[in-house]
Amino acid sequence: MIILGIETSCDETALALIETRQTEGVFEVCVLASLIHSQADLHSPYGGVFPTLAKREHEKYLQPLLDQLLASQATKPRIDAIAVTEGPGLEPALWTGIVFAEKLAQEWGISVIPVNHMEGHIVGSLLNSDAPNGQWQKLKELALPSLAFLISGGHTELVSIDSSPFKYTIVGATKDDAVGEAFDKVARLLELPYPGGPQISKLAAEARTENIISPVKLPRPMIHSKDLQFSFSGLKTAVLYAVREAEKSGVLDDTFKKALAREFEDAVIETLTSKLRDALEETGAQSLIIGGGVSANNMLRDSFTAIAQEFGIPVFLPSRHISGDNALMIALAGALNGTPSLKLTAHGTKKLGY
Ligand code: KG4
Ligand code: ZN
Repeated sequence: MIILGIETSCDETALALIETRQTEGVFEVCVLASLIHSQADLHSPYGGVFPTLAKREHEKYLQPLLDQLLASQATKPRIDAIAVTEGPGLEPALWTGIVFAEKLAQEWGISVIPVNHMEGHIVGSLLNSDAPNGQWQKLKELALPSLAFLISGGHTELVSIDSSPFKYTIVGATKDDAVGEAFDKVARLLELPYPGGPQISKLAAEARTENIISPVKLPRPMIHSKDLQFSFSGLKTAVLYAVREAEKSGVLDDTFKKALAREFEDAVIETLTSKLRDALEETGAQSLIIGGGVSANNMLRDSFTAIAQEFGIPVFLPSRHISGDNALMIALAGALNGTPSLKLTAHGTKKLGY
């Protein structure tokens, strides 16, 4: 099977082409091509993603990206199905991908497979990062039950996977802001551009190198709650008050910002790792999957790797080029676990689970 993946849930317009096969009952995949057009610079002045602008940009870039994707292949690929993100995400943005997929499918006489974006982040982490395009690979073997920790701009979720084909149960989630959203909002308070995650972690790293310690201690939200719930809005508000105080007393300079970025990143890491430990104990997971854009954070990657070692289980982190939104993970999720559908609808708040 050759599958075209389409992803337009947020501010990345992405297309990918994969081929899949079963060799003696084992699923194998070959990445033929993957293209991502990021709109981040365009949204940066707004401090977040502006949905109508995202929609307009997806509409503008889908066809040229498809032309480029097909032109990258030595021979015209015989595409069997199209996998497209149906949610969660920004509905106007999701619709552009869905409409484009349905139009192509009709033209080519093939089916469309709706994919949950979060499932994409889960299966994307099972790809072997070293395999170059054009090479067949097996997915990383997943010992079950597994725990997936999804950390992105829209989600902070602990998901238990206890059977193959994968079935998902959300065992923990945020009550308010997602962790990536908290990074983005705190970046805004510190007058850093969108997306805020990479900016905050860069400042935090400088603070560590220069040994700058924050004069303000931020809360570690929900760390002692005996459940798997998260909350990041209070942490963001604590940063707001710290910034206001610093402004009033005239100490809001680069050094203060670096210190606060470090303290904020430390607070996030302590919170995420504490809940992750609890979830691993509670679910008895035999493997750990990390997915979502925040998984690009180096300090977090190191912390998750250390926790997996502590528990004696393997950890699957997405390789850097697919830690953010991409269509490779969408094509893969469609191939592994998808069912074609005749009429698709964008689901802005679509949840994982059956
Ligand atoms: O998965 P993703 O690309 O889009 C969504 O589905 O939301 O995640 C984007 C989020 C943004 O909030 C961004 O600030 C965050 O991932 N992010 C990071 C880092 N790189 C991206 N957060 C912390 N540290 C990073 N290095
Ligand atoms: Zn995402």
